[in-house]
Amino acid sequence: MPKDVRSSKRRDELEELNMLVSAKEMLEKAVAGHYAVGQFNINNLEWTKAILTAAEETKSPVILGVSEGAGKYMTGFKTVQDMVAAMVEEMGITVPVATHLDHGSYDGCKKCIEAGFTSIMFDGSKYPIEENVAKTKELIEICKEKGMSLEAEVGAIGGEEDGVVGQGECADPNECKMIADLGVDMLAAGIGNIHGKYPENWAGLSFETLDAIQKLTGDMPLVLHGGTGIPDDMIKKAIDLGVAKINVNTECQLVFADATREYIEAGKDREGKGYDPRKLLKPGYEAIIAKVKEKMELFGSVGKA
Ligand code: 13P
Repeated sequence: MPKDVRSSKRRDELEELNMLVSAKEMLEKAVAGHYAVGQFNINNLEWTKAILTAAEETKSPVILGVSEGAGKYMTGFKTVQDMVAAMVEEMGITVPVATHLDHGSYDGCKKCIEAGFTSIMFDGSKYPIEENVAKTKELIEICKEKGMSLEAEVGAIGGEEDGVVGQGECADPNECKMIADLGVDMLAAGIGNIHGKYPENWAGLSFETLDAIQKLTGDMPLVLHGGTGIPDDMIKKAIDLGVAKINVNTECQLVFADATREYIEAGKDREGKGYDPRKLLKPGYEAIIAKVKEKMELFGSVGKA
């Protein structure tokens, strides 16, 4: 059987079992219900298990974000997809779960489609607009055919580059409408947000931009990247203005690192078999569960699965 047919078949089988789904329906429900679904990025088995546990215990739909770097780290997208699918099955997860490529290149998108992911983000911001549109259209067609969802980005969502943290850019609402009208399932637009920690002098989210984008794009689920460190009241206001998906990555990394440091600094790895990775990684794992649950509560997705 050709590879792409095999991956589609596996995706269909999993969808039928209500295991891995596209993000389309969960985000449409979020728009209608005025809450947001969290995208939490995964890096390894512990991360995935922690996020799935938090989602199941809070009955929240969840999107597992996989960057190209994290995919490579885990030996490839096929490993990621098969690991998530197997964990969802073996853990008896009942909530909707999507496997989503975060900031995908054109080639990365193709690889994730082949690996059986249920959702992708195409970040075509490095291409001239005509080429970005042409590639987005091609990927929309493939995603529709395979029952996957597609996220597009308008403008660039910044972050730390060469140690310099810039202020976040604001997308052009008319460009957002043009990309939304191509038929994407969700749209990430810069509204002053950035990845990683926010600088002391950060100006905050531009609700004016968000409002203008929402007015032009209607029911299109809007995506807020750079969820780490945005104050709770701004998150709530963003959800009120149409944000239906919020990406969080750095915050889970920070709590994992803090909890692991505490364990080591307390000398616990030297007590008995405290060096056993299952013990050593446990505090960090538990810290991720707590953080993800806190975010799900804030986003309003608890009990929505
Ligand atoms: P943070 O790392 O700032 O939470 O951003 C995550 C993100 O937007 C992934 O696309």
